[in-house]
Amino acid sequence: MLSINNLSFFFGERAMYDSANLHIKPNDKIGLIGANGTGKSTLLRIIHGEYSPDGGSISKSKDCTIGFLNQDLLSYLSEESILEVAMQAFEKENAIQKKINEILEQMEVEYTDDLLDKLTKLQEEFDILGGYGLEAKTEAILEGLGFSTQDLRKPLKQFSGGWRMRVMLAKILLAKPSLLLLDEPTNHLDLPSILWLEEYIYNYQEQWLSFRMIAGF
Ligand SMILES: Nc1ncnc2c1ncn2[C@@H]1O[C@H](COP(=O)(O)OP(=O)(O)O)[C@@H](O)[C@H]1O
Ligand SMILES: [Mg+2]
Repeated sequence: MLSINNLSFFFGERAMYDSANLHIKPNDKIGLIGANGTGKSTLLRIIHGEYSPDGGSISKSKDCTIGFLNQDLLSYLSEESILEVAMQAFEKENAIQKKINEILEQMEVEYTDDLLDKLTKLQEEFDILGGYGLEAKTEAILEGLGFSTQDLRKPLKQFSGGWRMRVMLAKILLAKPSLLLLDEPTNHLDLPSILWLEEYIYNYQEQWLSFRMIAGF
């Protein structure tokens, strides 16, 4: 699924890893444990492709998609509501929704059978993807992570760093990547949210056999 083969990586003279190997299989759950500064976050960044290995290689199977939660996401600010930001996870569905809206606008000007046909096909595709249920699903995840119903329409930038991080976590979970890289995921969570996350990941694994996780603590 994902293999780290003889990985070497240096910051200046300092070797972070020297000929390291790791094979991640479907359903693996791996906890990376080590003192501060030992290279946990750096390893996740290498797997995610932000840094290139100095030696060895990382090979990924074709169907491996990565969702990466890291502390850099704290700097993401937006005027958009937290519901909208979390829903950016649904790239494919959002692209179809956009096309549907464009056709509806066009149909106000000129109503043709051809446009109606395209609209019907897109709406069917959207329906099959579960597009009409995505908002409710997003609301449930955000509320599970501690947001109130009233919060969902408020702009992301109004929230503190810890709460913005929860929105980014919701977005990553909703995208359902096959490999979740979570770097200190519980940093900004209170106990009820940590318990919720545990439960969510447990069920996610049950439903999605290809689920894999690496968590850095
Ligand atoms: N971009 C960088 N350039 C140089 N050194 C770095 C860089 N990023 C991290 N380091 C150093 O590499 C070591 C490992 O960092 P990191 O992977 O963040 O550790 P951990 O996540 O285990 O606390 C630390 O000593 C850190 O100071
Ligand atoms: Mg770290």
